[in-house]
Amino acid sequence: MKLLGIESSCDDTAAAVSQGVHLLSNVRSSQLGHQAFGGVVPELASRAHDQAITAVVERALSEAGVTLEELDGIAVTLGPGLMGSLLVGLSFAKGLAVQTGYPLIGVDHLDAHKMAAWVGTEDQDIPYPYVALVVSGGHTRLEYISGPSSEDIRLLGETRDDAAGEAFDKIGKMMGLGYPAGPVVDTLAQTGDPNRFSFPQSMLDQPYEFSFSGLKTHLRRFLEDEYGIVSGLEQDELKHRLGDDLPDLAAGVNVAITEVLRKKALDACEHTGARTLVVAGGVSANLLLRDTLATSCNEHDIALHIPPIDLCTDNGGMICRQAYHLVMRGQHDTPLEPYARQWMRDSR
Ligand code: KG4
Ligand code: ZN
Repeated sequence: MKLLGIESSCDDTAAAVSQGVHLLSNVRSSQLGHQAFGGVVPELASRAHDQAITAVVERALSEAGVTLEELDGIAVTLGPGLMGSLLVGLSFAKGLAVQTGYPLIGVDHLDAHKMAAWVGTEDQDIPYPYVALVVSGGHTRLEYISGPSSEDIRLLGETRDDAAGEAFDKIGKMMGLGYPAGPVVDTLAQTGDPNRFSFPQSMLDQPYEFSFSGLKTHLRRFLEDEYGIVSGLEQDELKHRLGDDLPDLAAGVNVAITEVLRKKALDACEHTGARTLVVAGGVSANLLLRDTLATSCNEHDIALHIPPIDLCTDNGGMICRQAYHLVMRGQHDTPLEPYARQWMRDSR
């Protein structure tokens, strides 16, 4: 079965072509226009998707060596995400489905992130039950997944305020690292001393809940007291004031966020008895998180599954894989009317 998967929920326009559980292509166009604003500007995002989507889909098909006529279905992200951004991908996918007569398979963005770990793995080989740690720019949550259906997903806990990726981005912005700052903090941390600064690891007493806004406030005060950093300073000035301390600061922030994620994910496995941990979402690209989880899971005899780095952040490949999973379970065409009604309500 060959599927085209389209993802446009935030600021990446992405498309992929899959055959069964394998990817034949995976193309992404990341929007750079948001950097000057230090965060995603929804109106800019939807326009940029509109400009990029045709070329991204054409490239996904040509890199896969597959024509539109050879596909069996079109998969697309239904949400959660930015309404204007989602609608670009969805309208494009629906248009293709109408034109070709192929089924349109609507996919939940977070379910797709989790399935990225199973690209290349057949459904019957997924070892249920497992704990999923979903860590992206918009979500941070722990789930217990006992089977293939959406009814088998139990939410253990989530963040009470900022998501982990959001914390990386907001703290990185205070340090002049642009947007998205998560990957920059991660890279800088590689050359920094992780023991020089010790920043707070929040809510370790609450098993499954997360909170990162305290860390953000701590950093704001710390940067002001130690380096005279106040809001409104230009990026270059921020970097100048932090000088040679920047890698050590990045390493301290990296440890504070990833240690909370690591400890809670391991606790969730211990408490639920799950012997498999899946980590998904943009923050799972973080090298320290990947390394420390690998060590801890090994020590506790837990099988760890993290997508390859190019499948961690938003991509079309994960949409294809989740759509394949849905088709295998008998879902062939997603009626859009209930979603359209919901969107009409949300947009009022
Ligand atoms: O899953 P994703 O692409 O989009 C959402 O669904 O939100 O996640 C994007 C988030 C951003 O906050 C970005 O800073 C973060 O993932 N991120 C990272 C790394 N790569 C991406 N955070 C820490 N370390 C990384 N290497
Ligand atoms: Zn995402």
